[in-house]
Amino acid sequence: MCGIVGYIGNREAYPMLIKGLKRLEYRGYDSAGAALINQNGELSVYKTKGKVSDLEAFCQDKDISGSVGIAHTRWATHGEPSSLNAHPHYSESKNLAIIHNGIIENYADLKKKLISDGVHFRSDTDTEVIVQLIEYIQTKKNVDLLTAVRLALHQLIGAYAIALLDKREKNQIIAARKQSPLVIGIGDNEFFLGSDATPIIEYTDKVVYLDDDNVAVMRLGEELKVVNNMNHEMSPEVRTLDMNLGQIEKGGYPHFMLKEIFEQPECLENCMRGRVNVDANKVMLSAVIDYKKQLLNAKRIIIVACGTSWHAGLIGKQIIESFCRIPVEVEYASEFRYRNPVINSGDVIIAVSQSGETADTLAAVKLAKENGAFVFGICNAIGSSIPRATDTGSYIHVGPEIGVASTKAFTGQVTVLVMLALALAKEKGTITDELYASVVKELSGIPEKIKKMLELNDRISELSRTFTYAHNFLYLGRGYNYPVALEGALKLKEISYIHAEGYPAAEMKHGPIALIDSDMPVVVVAPHDEMYKKVLSNIQEIKARRGKIFALVSKGDDTISKIADEVIEMPETLECLEPLIASIPLQLLAYHVAVCKGKDVDQPRNLAKSVTVE
Ligand code: AGP
Ligand code: GLU
Repeated sequence: MCGIVGYIGNREAYPMLIKGLKRLEYRGYDSAGAALINQNGELSVYKTKGKVSDLEAFCQDKDISGSVGIAHTRWATHGEPSSLNAHPHYSESKNLAIIHNGIIENYADLKKKLISDGVHFRSDTDTEVIVQLIEYIQTKKNVDLLTAVRLALHQLIGAYAIALLDKREKNQIIAARKQSPLVIGIGDNEFFLGSDATPIIEYTDKVVYLDDDNVAVMRLGEELKVVNNMNHEMSPEVRTLDMNLGQIEKGGYPHFMLKEIFEQPECLENCMRGRVNVDANKVMLSAVIDYKKQLLNAKRIIIVACGTSWHAGLIGKQIIESFCRIPVEVEYASEFRYRNPVINSGDVIIAVSQSGETADTLAAVKLAKENGAFVFGICNAIGSSIPRATDTGSYIHVGPEIGVASTKAFTGQVTVLVMLALALAKEKGTITDELYASVVKELSGIPEKIKKMLELNDRISELSRTFTYAHNFLYLGRGYNYPVALEGALKLKEISYIHAEGYPAAEMKHGPIALIDSDMPVVVVAPHDEMYKKVLSNIQEIKARRGKIFALVSKGDDTISKIADEVIEMPETLECLEPLIASIPLQLLAYHVAVCKGKDVDQPRNLAKSVTVE
């Protein structure tokens, strides 16, 4: 889950590595480091606990010259975050230096064996085992570096993206991947390396997404060479990136998260572009057109996802079941993959993932495919691993999401799930013409309604101050808004570190109500829909116990505004689309509470944007 950057060419590597690491810092940020080979062929490793800015400070008086380098920002899995455990790691002779993203599951056995053969280790990481093993094989078998790398990789169980420097081969970087992402940028007599394309986009739009079990050799003055683990030369597909620099910079906002919250109207326009046509009263998803038979024959749909994407899946379930009359189950990918699930060939699996790299979701996709299911991906990161592993899918097209707390990807995922449900229901004939037309029309108007919600930013910022005292929050909602409550609670805990729980409002009386007292803020999503009266009763129950009520209500509601402590009005919409509007003030609330508490909104502690470890 860390960030990997590399450069080999004729420019100074260090500034590019640092810039690249900053772009990837969302992936991990507990320590950072770089390895450079200077003109004299000396290999130096600089690393420190902390962020990329700490690495910069650390390197101030160091020799950072050289046009070959690799760099890393870490999210520790083995060994505490410390300068010693930070990457790069040297081999024992210090001829080699490695950076790694992932987990080596059999590292303990390998380490034991290497120690008994006289190898000395410096860190507690699983990563160091890789570089020591490569050197061990190289020396013992007297083979070249590429062969030693391949042979070492054969012995590894787990996931990795690695980049390796050898000071005896100063014009070369070797990289390899298995289940962790790695992108190679191809420039003019130069190569770039990244965990994703964000560090590369500034320099070239020609990229190769390395495949699992492949090893890439980047040598100055030579073409990119890619071999598989049996040493057969591959012909990697060179793709053109469709992303620009503006999309990955803050654009005047203090945080990426706020920028991404505010981008949502435009993002959803992009998500629907060419897909939702109100004049023609039509929703078209190319995947549904191309794979109509497989999708329409689905006896059951299983949505697999993690975190926020799982919440989007819960909303998708309700919409698909209601419109298409197909049973839908929503599973945490991490549970699904390990519990021997019943998967039949008539099943359609929908994998929802912003990054397209989440290890558990990717494993669930592979499991589903092995069992003959048809797999549909709903992802944001173009060319990432999940879209490449699925049979088909629809990108959400909301642009790069950098803030660790997912916002625009969530509304993008819900939008795609609504479009999918509409397109399928129309084909199946399970939706009335009136309902179809009204959802198509209302969906296309959602970006404007989100703009209305964003106008409340200052008010939400102001009232968020009254909530910073709280140690606990409850979020309640029913029906389509129950997942909104879960998502609101997740946003708050992720970035403000306040404990928050989401509940279906009616469940409150079966336990959580015991928590309510005058110190407990309760956020209730209570628009004027079918569930209104029920939620109103739940609000009364909270009031009777003196809980502090923050209610999201429909415009013009004068009942709840008399009971609640704070009320935010939302424009009315169809019940199935309410999550797209109600989630906006909850994103803003979490954001402002975290800012008030002085927390690092874009890079909350212990988290990473792309969870490429189990
Ligand atoms: C969202 O705010 C989280 N940081 C996290 O729950 C995230 O949604 C989850 O890790 C899944 O990521 P994915 O969508 O990239 O698969
Ligand atoms: N497992 C390695 C470590 O703990 C790499 C973690 C990462 O991907 O950042 O150092």
